[in-house]
Amino acid sequence: MSDGTAMTDIDACVFDAYGTLFDYASASARCKDALGTDWMGFSDLWRRKQLEYTWLRSLMGRHTDFWHVTGEALDYTMETFKRNDPALRALLMQQFLNLDAYPEVSDMLRALKARKVRTAVLSNGSPTMLTAAVHSAGLTPLLDASLSVESVAIYKPHPSVYQLVVDKLAVMANRVCFLSSNGWDAAGAAAFGFRVVWVNRAGLPREKLPAQPEREVRSLAELPALLGLA
Ligand code: LAC
Repeated sequence: MSDGTAMTDIDACVFDAYGTLFDYASASARCKDALGTDWMGFSDLWRRKQLEYTWLRSLMGRHTDFWHVTGEALDYTMETFKRNDPALRALLMQQFLNLDAYPEVSDMLRALKARKVRTAVLSNGSPTMLTAAVHSAGLTPLLDASLSVESVAIYKPHPSVYQLVVDKLAVMANRVCFLSSNGWDAAGAAAFGFRVVWVNRAGLPREKLPAQPEREVRSLAELPALLGLA
């Protein structure tokens, strides 16, 4: 929880993508008419399987990129909901490429850039997916780097993923503020040695995992003040 003091000695803010900058539920929301009243249940299962498959493939040593995993998770979800509809599948996948950014994201990034804080994305997303999401949300000029797990071919929360930030941005782990709405990603990043802010949009309990985020916010709008920049 926030103790009211600013987080200092931060050289870069690094953001998770899906659920943190981009609202993955916006893909299913845009297909509400086709998915029916339980579109949210559909969206939740799609997301749950997407994450499970990343963890399982990493444990199995059978990496494939996040676009492929997202499609396999969607196939499982469509089968569960008894939807055999290739056109709907194609539409949902297309929507996943240009998700809505959360409403506070561009103002927040602008505030960081105005104070010369470096910014980056670190995501399971493939480079193509990240480029598409960042571009369609108009965030390209506000982010210094988009780092994808594809260069290490294993998924979060493997430490080699977080190490990418240290290597590619040439920053020390303890001067990186890492932000994720995914509690398990926040735990993984804290275990690695980042200074972590959990963007607890849904008001969930903390994950019972070996490392804990240093701070917790409900929205990224709180970040500039948390860093003492507002
Ligand atoms: C990501 C997943 C965790 O963007 O949402 O890496």
